[in-house]
Amino acid sequence: MIRVMFSVLATLLAISVSAQDLTDAQRTAIEARIHPVGESCIEGDSGCGGVVAAAASSGPRSGEEVYNSACLACHSTGAAGAPIYGVAANWTDRIAKGNAVLYTSGIEGIAGTGMIAKGGCMSCSNEEIEAAVDYMVAGSK
Ligand code: HEC
Repeated sequence: MIRVMFSVLATLLAISVSAQDLTDAQRTAIEARIHPVGESCIEGDSGCGGVVAAAASSGPRSGEEVYNSACLACHSTGAAGAPIYGVAANWTDRIAKGNAVLYTSGIEGIAGTGMIAKGGCMSCSNEEIEAAVDYMVAGSK
């Protein structure tokens, strides 16, 4: 009888010990998972988490991607008098001004109009805005 009690006790002890181990392992795993979230990352800092590095290495967005995310809202509808993508008549006079002027309009905006600097995409590089202008011009001739 004592031997049976002993083995039951030993079993319980073993279970509680392994439960304790599991808890430690879980805690370590949880800490590893949540750690990057608590870090403050500066864009372009390659040593900071995987997410920022992955975003940085994906390279510049294409003109079409920038257009779809930052320009389409106005330029597909003509909101606020924006020249509409794909409507050549809206673009002939503007295209005649030359790419350099259109790039500047895209990057700096046009004061006093709905055309705000970079279409509001402040995370867009100048090159990405120029690519978006190229995309809009090419699709609107
Ligand atoms: C909030 C609305 C709005 C958004 C968003 C917007 N535009 Fe515009 N855009 C305008 C309006 C309005 C005009 C016409 C301004 C004028 O000449 O009166 C315009 C004009 C332009 C022109 C012609 C400029 C010229 O010199 O004739 C270009 C090029 C242009 N936008 C590029 C872009 C690009 C690229 C984006 C996205 C990155 C963008 N726009 C986002 C409203 C917008």
